[in-house]
Amino acid sequence: MQVGLTMISIKHLRDVPQHFDTVADWIYHQWWEKPGNTVDVVKQPLREHLHAKDFPAAFVAMDGNTPAGSVLLLADDGITELPDLTPWLAALYVAPQYRMQGVGKQLVQALEHHAQCIGYTQLYLVATDRVSFYLDLGWRIHTKLGGNMGITIMRKNLSAVSAKSQSAASEQV
Ligand SMILES: CC(C)(COP(=O)(O)OP(=O)(O)OC[C@H]1O[C@@H](n2cnc3c(N)ncnc32)[C@H](O)[C@@H]1OP(=O)(O)O)[C@@H](O)C(=O)NCCC(=O)NCCS
Repeated sequence: MQVGLTMISIKHLRDVPQHFDTVADWIYHQWWEKPGNTVDVVKQPLREHLHAKDFPAAFVAMDGNTPAGSVLLLADDGITELPDLTPWLAALYVAPQYRMQGVGKQLVQALEHHAQCIGYTQLYLVATDRVSFYLDLGWRIHTKLGGNMGITIMRKNLSAVSAKSQSAASEQV
């Protein structure tokens, strides 16, 4: 599929395991890097995504043989206030040189399609910013936690995923 300037395909991480370290590094440097941590804090749970058949799942946006971004489908994203919500879209990341070309949108839509295919009717995510990016993709605000400086929990009703975006996603995954 041609989006913006970039031809992107979306793959399961288990089908492109040679990019495991790149995905782990992205997630580590974006969210987990701090004194006392190493990239192993990400690699350990991410390995589960290499072996699981459908869930949890990790997707990689590929520009030919070059990884451009990734996203995870998880049972739990660590929101202890809302223990009953599942599953979660997490760790959406697009490499800086691929941003603003629709790669993030394709990753979100491919993950939505996968979640729907394996039987989920709702999907959740934690947004610390970028709320409007997800609103534009049909997500809605579920609740806010932690006051004005807090986080926004967003929800996607997967029955609202259109036939058009489903067929686009199924071409990719
Ligand atoms: C957030 C993130 C994943 C977005 O990835 P992306 O590939 O740039 O996303 P898209 O290109 O699909 O959309 C980004 C914007 O570009 C716009 N866009 C998409 N294709 C475009 C194109 N061809 N021309 C111009 N603009 C375009 C979209 O409308 C969107 O606009 P918005 O910022 O007003 O919402 C990326 O910026 C990132 O990895 N950030 C760091 C990690 C992060 O913050 N993750 C999200 C955690 S909640």
